[in-house]
Amino acid sequence: MSEAAEFRLCPLEEMPDPGARGFEFGEGRERTELVAVRAGADAAVFINACPHQGTPLETFPDRFLTRSGTRLLCSTHGAEFRLEDGLCVKGPCKGKSLQKVDSRLEKGILIARLDRDPD
Ligand code: FES
Repeated sequence: MSEAAEFRLCPLEEMPDPGARGFEFGEGRERTELVAVRAGADAAVFINACPHQGTPLETFPDRFLTRSGTRLLCSTHGAEFRLEDGLCVKGPCKGKSLQKVDSRLEKGILIARLDRDPD
């Protein structure tokens, strides 16, 4: 049986539009790295790990998007991902996806919810 963990990310209004922002929670095995993407009143949240090698997408803080702002970019080898569902459409992990995380807005705050297996 899995447990759920919720993370309060930030007010949606504090995110660039369109834009993305990284979040880190916890230490050691509990460490969780997320990337949130905003497009207008919509947002999506993903685990910040490229499916190619599992490394975080960004090299510089909060620099997640391509120049056009239309895709997430892995800065290590250039994989590009759709903003809406995290599907890789270009690069070494084409056809694989970032892991999307359940999220919702509550009084304007973006909240992510992860299911975790207790061990
Ligand atoms: S680690 Fe992301 S494309 Fe290689």
